[in-house]
Amino acid sequence: LPFGLQKRVDAHLRAHISRKPMNKENFPHDAVSRLGADESCLNDGVCEHEEPSPRSVIAERILMRRSVQMRSKQQDWQESPEGQKMQEFRKSLPSYKERDALLSAISENQVVVVSGETGCGKTTQLPQYILESAIEDAQGAACSIICTQPRRISAMAVSERVAAERGEKIGESVGYKVRLEGMKGRDTRLLFCTTGILLRRLLVDRNLKGVSHVIVDEIHERGMNEDFLLIVLKDLLPRRPELRLILMSATLNAELFSSYFGGAPMIHIPGFTYPVRSHFLENILETTGYRLTPYNQIDNYGQDKTWKMEKQTLRKRKTQIASSVEGALMDADFKEYSPRARESLFCWNPDSIGFNLIEHVLCHICRNERSGAVLVFMTGWDDINSLKDQLQAHPLLGDPSRVLLLACHGSMASSEQKLIFDKPEDGVRKIVLATNMAETSITINDVVFVVDCGKAKETSYDALNNTPCLLPAWISKASVRQRKGRAGRVQPGECYHLYPRCVHDAFADYQLPELLRTPLQSLCLQIKSLQLGSISDFLSKALQPPELLSVQNAVEYLKIIGALDENENLTVLGRNLSMLPVEPKLGKMLILGAIFSCLDPLMTIVAGLSVRDPFLAPFDKKDLADSAKAQFSARDFSDHLALLRAYEGWKDAERHHSGYEYCWKNFLSAQTLKAIDSLKNQFSYLLKDIGLVDNRESCNTSSHDKHLIRAIVCAGLFPGVCSVVNKEKSISFKTMEDGGVLLYSNSVNAREPKIPFPWLVFNEKVKVNSVFLRDSTGVSDSLILLFGGNISRGGLDGHLKMLDGYLEFFMKPDLAATYVTLKKELDELVQKKLLNPKLDIQSQDE
Ligand code: CDP
Ligand code: MG
Repeated sequence: LPFGLQKRVDAHLRAHISRKPMNKENFPHDAVSRLGADESCLNDGVCEHEEPSPRSVIAERILMRRSVQMRSKQQDWQESPEGQKMQEFRKSLPSYKERDALLSAISENQVVVVSGETGCGKTTQLPQYILESAIEDAQGAACSIICTQPRRISAMAVSERVAAERGEKIGESVGYKVRLEGMKGRDTRLLFCTTGILLRRLLVDRNLKGVSHVIVDEIHERGMNEDFLLIVLKDLLPRRPELRLILMSATLNAELFSSYFGGAPMIHIPGFTYPVRSHFLENILETTGYRLTPYNQIDNYGQDKTWKMEKQTLRKRKTQIASSVEGALMDADFKEYSPRARESLFCWNPDSIGFNLIEHVLCHICRNERSGAVLVFMTGWDDINSLKDQLQAHPLLGDPSRVLLLACHGSMASSEQKLIFDKPEDGVRKIVLATNMAETSITINDVVFVVDCGKAKETSYDALNNTPCLLPAWISKASVRQRKGRAGRVQPGECYHLYPRCVHDAFADYQLPELLRTPLQSLCLQIKSLQLGSISDFLSKALQPPELLSVQNAVEYLKIIGALDENENLTVLGRNLSMLPVEPKLGKMLILGAIFSCLDPLMTIVAGLSVRDPFLAPFDKKDLADSAKAQFSARDFSDHLALLRAYEGWKDAERHHSGYEYCWKNFLSAQTLKAIDSLKNQFSYLLKDIGLVDNRESCNTSSHDKHLIRAIVCAGLFPGVCSVVNKEKSISFKTMEDGGVLLYSNSVNAREPKIPFPWLVFNEKVKVNSVFLRDSTGVSDSLILLFGGNISRGGLDGHLKMLDGYLEFFMKPDLAATYVTLKKELDELVQKKLLNPKLDIQSQDE
């Protein structure tokens, strides 16, 4: 920010920090805890005995009393009839046989790696064994177990299950905590949380004071947070010799983790699964009699709509295939395959032909196979929805008296969830459409048939072009095994793989860890705020370290936005950003919103961007929905301002009790708007606790100012900027890295024939065949000049130099001159005291 604005921002931040120097004592625990690092149950005297003091004696006594209470409560439950029935079930799980071995390994070793088939009882049983045995030893109140899950839904579902197994309500001895939601109480000793929550807690509590066991579940998935957590924990273990770390993994790459922790002991829980038969595409075509469109006959089909669609996708596919892995596969292996199988690979495509094939397979199962539920693995939520629509129109599959068709996704309501786990009525076949989430995290017991499309949407990161990508990619052999295993839980099962066997043989053994395929900005900021030293040194300690280029890109980005200084030290802004549970660019908007007194609208925008899009786009009414959205744009050429207006309209309607009508009419999701609302409340608590906000009113004196909001959106999103090229009949966009880019069709700017702004700032670009920009806002030259980047980095000259690249690339060298003129004019205004004197902070120290 130029003209002392940056200084004003820094001064403001510094003033707050000097008022509240951040150290152990007065760190805003409260604020951060609300986002997950909740310590209340762990800090109520649990660890006091480490430092003898009069208080510790009392604490000891309280602990003892509670432990005894917990023991008798547990005994009562175990002796009750329901309790005994539950015990019986639990004893039937394979993990029970290993209970003693597990417990003694854990007490004797600081790190233990546990592996076992999905469903053998790792997640629900192992943490419970630890808790139960502590309670039996009258140590219940002193133990504190944290078990991390990669997904919200599993943290919630598992804690509910474990509480039920202990005859309790959730929030007693067992609780959960996910971002913005949680259920835990004074007596909670076993907490299931997402990995992100534990990381956030480490930010304020580096030694995990009071925690006795950390269990990291599903490590085989190699999520970024899990990999990151392992580096931090590895570092922490020597400082906390009594802390126990247990790593749990479904598939068998336990050796990798064991050797990472210096040869930690491994315990394998032998599981029972019934044999599952694999049917690959070539067999499926035989049994179902389904004919795929032969590759060489594509042009012979007429005007039939479905065929036409296939024809188009196939054409696109022909060109894609040439350069893809599949192309290589075909060259290498496919020649030896039967002509029919060869055709099938060319023609298989998850968008349309895949659907018809899946429909055939499902019909085949319903008509000819024994009873049992069907689990269909799809690539993503969009696919699941479209397939569900298609199947519902089918005479057999759409008949609710014969088929119970369910979709399974991360954010579904718990009533819907229950249907997935429950047994359907007799004579009704349950079909669950799911993403790869159903691979390991959740277990549907009655599945006998699995349909595996062979792909999953995978985020990847193109470090060269600094672009995140989201594309369906072939899954790994480990995932195939996992998917297949889901069919053999209650009786022998069948798995239908919708790809030929030779394609399967060419799959990678394991998926690439996420750390190697995502941008690292937030992670780098976290490394800095956890004071873990040099970013690249730290990341080089990972299980599989990321590419140097990705690390450099992230560090450079953090420098551009002013979160790190030239020497890679955290700036004041950076430190504040690291305390906000949103991406750095969104955090920057919140902070600037607070400082420039237009906090509320920016909280709405940021909440909207971090929850999900409240604008719905139903498949069949996309046009209506898009034009409803366009109304909110009111020719502002901004998705962000449209979101703001839609939200404000909803708030207004809510006041008149017509919120739902309003949403219905405008294709908005009431659920999402409510989530935005509650996230905003969280933000305002947090900003207050950090000390950025005194009260909500004083931060909103300029909230009506659309130009200011646009400017702050620009400041937050830069360097996410593309230039707008208005031509006679068309309009095109380009960024420095990618050249031509496209806008997502639901952007308000995608519908405009002309955009009267030379630039669009955007918050996300994704490569899906072409590069697409999601949510954009038009900004003027002067906004880019004034708000783009970080002027404190090398002063005006440095700023111009950085912008130079952009200006030259977009052939706008004259902007530099405009910039100098603008600065001169503003300087004069300041001198004449015509500009808000608050802006003039020349008199202050820095
Ligand atoms: O973690 P892992 O895959 O090893 O298994 P788990 O999630 O602990 O589940 C163990 C068993 O508990 C499953 O086989 C299910 O029979 C049962 N379970 C259940 O009935 N309901 C749940 N919500 C979760 C698990
Ligand atoms: Mg599990």
